[in-house]
Amino acid sequence: MQLPDPRARVQSVLDSSAPRLYPPFFRAVFSGMDAERAHHVGFAGIRAAERTGASRALRATMAPDLGLARTVMGLRFPSPFGLAAGFDKTGVGTTALAELGFGHIEVGTITAQAQPGNPAPRLFRLPADRALVNRMGFNNDGAAAVAPRLAATRRTLQERFGAVRPVLGVNIGKTKVVPLEGAAEDYRTSTRLLAPHADYLAVNVSSPNTPGLRQLQEISALEPILAAVREEADRVVADRRVPLTVKIAPDLADEDVRAVAALAERIGLDGVIATNTTISREGLTTPAAEVEALGAGGLSGAPLKERSTEVLAVLRAALPSATALVSVGGVTTADDVAARLDAGADLVQGYTAFLYEGPFWAGRVNAGLARRMRGR
Ligand SMILES: Cc1cc2nc3c(=O)[nH]c(=O)nc-3n(C[C@H](O)[C@H](O)[C@H](O)COP(=O)(O)O)c2cc1C
Repeated sequence: MQLPDPRARVQSVLDSSAPRLYPPFFRAVFSGMDAERAHHVGFAGIRAAERTGASRALRATMAPDLGLARTVMGLRFPSPFGLAAGFDKTGVGTTALAELGFGHIEVGTITAQAQPGNPAPRLFRLPADRALVNRMGFNNDGAAAVAPRLAATRRTLQERFGAVRPVLGVNIGKTKVVPLEGAAEDYRTSTRLLAPHADYLAVNVSSPNTPGLRQLQEISALEPILAAVREEADRVVADRRVPLTVKIAPDLADEDVRAVAALAERIGLDGVIATNTTISREGLTTPAAEVEALGAGGLSGAPLKERSTEVLAVLRAALPSATALVSVGGVTTADDVAARLDAGADLVQGYTAFLYEGPFWAGRVNAGLARRMRGR
């Protein structure tokens, strides 16, 4: 007699189109709550599940199919699908998130100096559009405080998952009070403190919520920043080469995207992450007056899908296959992830759909990817 395979059973539930428990839970519990508070409650729940051992019990079933593992930027990723920056800004719950099946987690954005971010409210849901608007403004504890957390996280990931463990990305940004002219040195400080604990580094020059930050995408500003980060990472990490990526905005014109690609190739950047949130408010179902009342911020989620996919195409056409592309923006399903991979992405990230899809999101995406891989 053949024993039922519990992993296959759980995967088939994750993968099924049967009615799911999370959407009604979301409507009942989270939808009436301030969005930032809901984030803290949800994240606290994920961390509590890790402490009680509940998520660890699930790890065997949530873990990606071994066939999904791939090597990108010289790192072994258990799945091509990861969690984008901004969910775990200060590295307080990365190991708990790893239990949920993400192939990598990009912690941050972390700045050299601690800063409170913008005044609340600063995170808003647009459920009709499966979108969010945020103007968090890099609220974080600063690189010196986050560094020991990342060191501990990396050790724990290694102990728990072994050789093919979820990858720890570290996303760094400019401290708000530092003028643009001081940006390269500010990024260098973050690199000195954080590169030793990062599997890869992401230089964020694309958040719309730090005044002037996106001007750093201009080649004349970007090149010295990336040079400083590369130099510092090589100086402080002697036993390996920390891969370096840059994260760009969807609001760049195609020719500016090509200029970043040319720079990436010229200086031997390991990868480009595209895209961050958009300042556009086009194509939304939510009434314009409601959207306008929310104020400034970056829009993420489903409405970003089209432009993010376009930017991926522009980058893939411009860059050699040796330069990794990480596609992010408006991804929800395994089919969305597969479409980005088919369009030339090496890795795919998501954030906004996590809020709407719930804690089994990554497990479900992985199950869908595995099913596609097996041709079913
Ligand atoms: C609330 C929130 C906070 C974010 N914070 C950051 C951040 O600190 N650094 C960063 O590089 N991207 C940040 N992002 C952008 C995401 O990493 C991602 O690029 C963007 O949301 C598009 O992906 P999505 O449509 O799957 O959400 C944030 C996004 C959201 C929704």
